Amino acid sequence: MTQVVEPGKTATDAHRLIERQRDKYLTDLVAFLRIPSISTLARHKKDVRQAARFIADLLKQAGMDHVKTIKTDGAPLVVGDWLHAPGKPTILLYGHYDVQPVDPLRLWTTPPFEPAIRDGKIYARGATDDKGQLLALIEAVRATMEARGALPVNIRFLIEGEEESGGAAIEKYVREQPEKIPCDAVLIADTHMLGPGLPSIVYGVRGMLYTEIVARGAAHDLHSGTYGGVAPNPLHALALILAGLKGDDGRVNIPGLYELARPVTDEERGWWKRYPGSEAQRLEHEMGVKIFPGEQSYAPTERMSARPTLEVHGFIGGFQDEGAKTVIPAEARVKVSLRLVPDQTPENVLPLLKKRVKELTPRGVVTDIKDIHGGLGMMVDVRDPYIEAARAALSEEFDHEVYFLREGGSVPIAALFTEKLHAPVVFAGYGLADEGLHAPNEHFNLVNFYHAIHGTVRYLDRVAAITTAQPAMQNGAKKTHRAASTR
Ligand code: BES
Ligand code: MN
Ligand code: MN
Repeated sequence: MTQVVEPGKTATDAHRLIERQRDKYLTDLVAFLRIPSISTLARHKKDVRQAARFIADLLKQAGMDHVKTIKTDGAPLVVGDWLHAPGKPTILLYGHYDVQPVDPLRLWTTPPFEPAIRDGKIYARGATDDKGQLLALIEAVRATMEARGALPVNIRFLIEGEEESGGAAIEKYVREQPEKIPCDAVLIADTHMLGPGLPSIVYGVRGMLYTEIVARGAAHDLHSGTYGGVAPNPLHALALILAGLKGDDGRVNIPGLYELARPVTDEERGWWKRYPGSEAQRLEHEMGVKIFPGEQSYAPTERMSARPTLEVHGFIGGFQDEGAKTVIPAEARVKVSLRLVPDQTPENVLPLLKKRVKELTPRGVVTDIKDIHGGLGMMVDVRDPYIEAARAALSEEFDHEVYFLREGGSVPIAALFTEKLHAPVVFAGYGLADEGLHAPNEHFNLVNFYHAIHGTVRYLDRVAAITTAQPAMQNGAKKTHRAASTR
């Protein structure tokens, strides 16, 4: 295998090749999307493993070395590398091959695992989150290898299959074996752009604390006529607690919560001000409502990304069937999560939530809070050369200036990458907010699928020009480079 780009074989070759192979990439995408790799459902375990093998095969086809699926307690991790660019930076490429469940099925125009193309968009579960974006990273590496016989930088892939269900396996791997994946930067394509044709780099994601509050009243269910008036009602108790946790004004009433939050900077506000178009119109289009509840003294952009939030996801208990049943349930549960901003962490917020719920619990009811999962939010330093390279690559690819976005969603592994690998995380995503991720009729705009392939090629070429004091190529190598971000 050649280790240097042959003179005359320049970056353009990879881009021309990509244009010639558009159909092939689409065929790969369709095959990938056909695999129902829903990580949260045990009955899809086989499909999850099949998706892992599918990705491993593609990495081999792309010319990666040491390709393997790593067995874990959950879904397999897929790794592979190409480390033949001595003295050049090493980029870790991350994505997830698992997808969210598909319910409610009847709302899908075409079945979620039978990819269909309508109006330049491919419809299937996982199309934008994250199969389409992940595949683009792999195709970019493959195209570069095919066109030039080598890559401009060193590459490692670390791909997981349970991002949508907690990400325990990758967390363990990165915590316990960071020496296996030394790198100078991490590239993630699992986020949004501001809008069509508006390339974007996400500079912050929120963290998460997902809990279930369990309320218990009487020893068993009771007749509401016989005992109504004296019996504790756990369902009603939870309603009171929820109302106490967040009011109609959108403020989360957990003492100490906002004090932990890192303040928004003037620089960020400056970026937000430059976003084109009307935010209200965009939200109306995406959400189908005209009224946006929440803290009215903060603009929607800020509420959606830089403020902590509390949301209720499910209310369980009592009589759920049709008709009526006069019961006072003995137990009720509610799923509640908080989106956290730096420097809030699941560890420093959970005690505050517990204390507040205890205060709000009415007499006669006992509550208990289960910590279901959590993850840290993070911010990246946009002045980092690896972010600057992404900005240059994306603006070249889209022929448009790049926006810095703060994202309200969570990519919990990102903070751990920064902490354990001491490498900046570059969120260069190609999704659009209205592509129905986690919802029926999820889709990916194919034009952005191809932008993602080209954009990634451009990124790797740009990164090759960065000189690292001590490249991270060797396993176990120590580096001094430290990202300015984390917590
Ligand atoms: N790709 C998303 C994260 C995301 C959402 C990025 C929206 C940009 C915009 C990721 O797959 C996801 O869904 N994350 C979960 C994590 C949670 C389960 C800890 C989320 O944000 O709910
Ligand atoms: Mn995702
Ligand atoms: Mn997701």
